[in-house]
Amino acid sequence: MPEIRGEPADITATASWAALGRHARELQAGGVSLKGLFEAEPGRAARCTTAVGDLTIDWSRHLATETTLQLLAATAVEAGVAQRINDMMSGRPVNTTENRAVLHTALRAEPGRAVTTGGRNVMPAIAAEHQRMAAFVDALHASQRTGATGQPIRAVVNIGIGGSQLGPAMAHEALAGFRSGAVECRFVSNVDPAALASGLDGLDAASTLFVIVSKGFSTAETLANARAAQAWTAAGLGRPDAERALRRHFVAVTADRDAAQAFGIDPASIFTTWDWVGGRFSMGSAAGLTLMAAVGAENFMELLAGMRLMDSHVGSDPQASVPMLLGLLSVWYRNFWGFQTRAVVPYSHRLRLFGVWLQQVIMESNGKRVRRDGSPVGCESAEIVWGGAGADSQHSFHQLLHQGTTVVPADFLVLARPDADVDTVDAASEDARLRHEALVANCFAQAAALAFGTPGDGGDPHRELPGNRPSTVIMAPRLTPSVLGQLVSLYEHLTVVQGAVWGINSFDQFGVELGKTLADGIVSELRGVPGAPTPPHDPATASLIAHYRRLRDT
Ligand code: F6P
Repeated sequence: MPEIRGEPADITATASWAALGRHARELQAGGVSLKGLFEAEPGRAARCTTAVGDLTIDWSRHLATETTLQLLAATAVEAGVAQRINDMMSGRPVNTTENRAVLHTALRAEPGRAVTTGGRNVMPAIAAEHQRMAAFVDALHASQRTGATGQPIRAVVNIGIGGSQLGPAMAHEALAGFRSGAVECRFVSNVDPAALASGLDGLDAASTLFVIVSKGFSTAETLANARAAQAWTAAGLGRPDAERALRRHFVAVTADRDAAQAFGIDPASIFTTWDWVGGRFSMGSAAGLTLMAAVGAENFMELLAGMRLMDSHVGSDPQASVPMLLGLLSVWYRNFWGFQTRAVVPYSHRLRLFGVWLQQVIMESNGKRVRRDGSPVGCESAEIVWGGAGADSQHSFHQLLHQGTTVVPADFLVLARPDADVDTVDAASEDARLRHEALVANCFAQAAALAFGTPGDGGDPHRELPGNRPSTVIMAPRLTPSVLGQLVSLYEHLTVVQGAVWGINSFDQFGVELGKTLADGIVSELRGVPGAPTPPHDPATASLIAHYRRLRDT
C-alpha cells in the first residue's frame, strides 16, 4: 500500500475529538438552542453567511458556537484534512486501496496548468479529449454526424449507470434551459427492460446514437442494455451489413478501450476517461458527453468553470473553505449529536435530481466501516442522504422533519430567479415570477419553522413544533451551468472532507462487489445456462429462486 501521509492513528482517539465530545455534552446539557444563539448574537445571520462565487451559503441555523467551530477546525488539522485535499489535487495516490490518484479537479483545472501523477502531466490528454468531445458535439449539432442510412442523428441515448449516469442526467435536467434543442438526449441506466423501452419510445433507429458510458466497460447492466440497443438498432435499420452499420450509431466512453472495441465500438468513436477519475466524480470527463450533446460545448465548459471556481476556493485555503465548514458540521452532527441522515431539498424543479446524484457521491464514498489502514473507523461514518424537491417535499415528508422523533439536518438550495427555461415556456411570465417567489418564500419558511418552531409554549402538543432543527440554505442568483458546477464541486469537496476526518478512503467502493458476484451466479442459474455451475445458495436465496420459478413458469 502506498505511503499514507500525515495520517493520525485514529481521529476518535485524539485530544481534539475528546474536546469536541465534552463540548457537545456541555451544549446538550445546557439546552443549546438556535433561538438562544440568535438572541445572544444579533449579528449571527450576517456572520454566518458566506459568499463563494455565485453562491450565498447561510449556515447560521446550525447548533454550533464559535467554540464548536474552533474545535472542529482543530480536529480537521489533527486529521490532516487540508493535506489530504492538497494531496488529492496534486495527483498523489490518495485512493490507497487501488493505488490511484484522484484527479477529478484536473478535469476542470485552468488549461495550461500542469497536474502530474506518476510523473505524467495529465492536462494535455484532458484538453485533447475535451476538444474531441466538442468537435463531436459540434458535428452533431450541425447535422454532420449521420447514421448508417445517411440521416442526421437527432437523438442521443446515454447508456450507463451509477457515476456514468447520475451526474450527467442530473445536470441535463438542471440545465434544461440551456439545451440547444439540436438533439434530444435521454438517459437509460436500469437493466429493467422498461427503462430501455421508455428510453427508446418514439425514437427512430436511423437517427439515434447511443453513448455507452462505462469506465470499466464490464458493468453488467450497461452491457446488457448496450446489447439490447444494438439489437434494436439493427432491427430498426434492417440492414444486412448490420455490424458495420451499427458502428455509426454507437460511441463509447471508457477507460478500457480494448473492451469497448471488443464490444464492437469503432476505435475512432471511443472517448477516454482514466483510472484517476472516479465514476461518481466524472461529470467533467467524457462521461459528460451526452450532457455536452444536450447543452453544447460552451455551456459544458461553463459548468467546468463553475467547478474550477469552487476548486480554487478550496485549493487556495482548504482549512478556511466552505466545503470544509459544511463537511465538519456534518461530522459534528453525525458523531456528536447522533443525527443519522441529511435531507437535501432543492427548491427548484430543475434541481430535483441533485439529491439523487449526491446520494452516490456521499454514500458510495464514505459509507465505509474501516479506515484507510483497515482498522475500524471507530465512529459513525457517512450519513444517509435523502430528500426531494421543495415544495413537493413539504406535502410529503416535512411533517417528520418538523415533529418527528429524529432530527434531520436539511440542506435547502434556492434560486433568486426562476429556472432559465421558464421565460420561454411560460407565457404568463409575470405570473411565473410570482409563483417562483412563492417557492422561495416556502423555502425560507421551512428553514425558519425548523429552526425556531412554534412561538410561545404551553400550547397544544399536537400543534407544537419544537424547532431547534438545523439547516443550511444555499442561494444562487439563477441556475446557470457555472452555478451548477459550483454546487457540484462544493458537495464533492464536502464529501472528501468527511472522509478525511474519518480516515476513510473515499474513492473505492468494494461494498458493491459481492452483490454483483452473487447476481452473476443467480442469473446463470435462472436462465438455466447449460454447463454453468450452479452456485451454492444460502437457504433464503434458494427459497426465493424456487418461488420465483413457480410464479414465472405458471
Ligand atoms: O457498482 C458501482 C460502480 O462501480 C460505481 O462506482 C460506478 O459509478 C458504476 O458502478 C458504473 O461503473 P462503470 O462506469 O465502470 O460502468
